[in-house]
Formats: sequence, C-alpha cells, structure tokens
Amino acid sequence: MTTVTMTVNGRPVSGEVEGRTLLAEFLREGLRLTGTHIGCDTSQCGACVVHVNGRAIKSCTALALDLEGAEVVTIEGMANPDGSLSRVQQAFQDHHGLQCGYCTPGMVMSAAALLQDNPKPSVEQIREHLEGNICRCTGYHNIVKAVLAASGQDVSALAAE
Ligand code: FES
Ligand code: FES
Repeated sequence: MTTVTMTVNGRPVSGEVEGRTLLAEFLREGLRLTGTHIGCDTSQCGACVVHVNGRAIKSCTALALDLEGAEVVTIEGMANPDGSLSRVQQAFQDHHGLQCGYCTPGMVMSAAALLQDNPKPSVEQIREHLEGNICRCTGYHNIVKAVLAASGQDVSALAAE
C-alpha cells in the first residue's frame, strides 16, 4: 500500500491505496464519496465522471496513485457554497433530467465541463458531448433540455418535441 494525497472538493485528503486502486474506488471506498457511481467499470457508461485538474474524466479509468497532488471535484463538490444546487444541478431538477438518478452524477459532471468550455452549446454539441454518458432509463431528451437550460438558452423548441 502507498499513500496518495490529493485535493478533493477543495479539501486535502490522503489515503492508502494499492497500485491498482482506481480513482472511483478511492473516492467511494476510501473517502465515502458515493455520489460517484460505478455502472460498468469498463469506461463505457460515464456514471463515474469527475473533474480532475479542471477536466472531466471517467474515474474508473484512472489510477488513484497517478493523481498525486491532483485537484479533484466530485458531484458532492458541485453545490454552491451556500448549499444550494449549482446551475446545472438546478436545471436537471427543473427539467426532469433524471429518472432513477444512477447516471445523473456523471451527466452533471460532464455537462458542467461542457459549459466551462462552451457556455452556449447547440443541441447537437450537447448530444455529442454526452455520448460517453449512458442513461439506462433513456431519459436523454430531458437531459439535453436541462443542459440547454443551464446554458441560459431557450428550450421551447426542444420542449415541443
Ligand atoms: S463506471 Fe466508469 S465509465 Fe462506467
Ligand atoms: S436516470 Fe436512470 S440511468 Fe439515467
């Protein structure tokens, strides 16, 4: 076992990990941050997406030991400082962008990363960006609508579909 230290949701954390310990496992089992979900463990579903050094990654594809000193943000770190939902989280709630919620943390983290890079994405760009996030409830329409709303754009055309 080796000690790894990183910043998670603004707090310095450390823990003992094996060389094979995935970031997703370290977050869930080591830090009890269970909002990061594991749906496939094979880099397909996107339920495990977190931000590392400002970029969205699938945490089931990263080894914890490789992230010594990294800045990690999980869904638990997405709320505003006053505890209210972030813009993206609120839009998911307002536009019914979730059903069972299993994919939702990864969707929110991926969507937030998209809006950082592209504050006014088109519907096509949203769909393309989220293609690595699978919703087994198939609620994609409202997820896209929520991301469009979070970007401050008109959702009426989508709402009519
Ligand atoms: S659990 Fe990481 S992509 Fe599915
Ligand atoms: S809301 Fe159920 S998997 Fe997406």
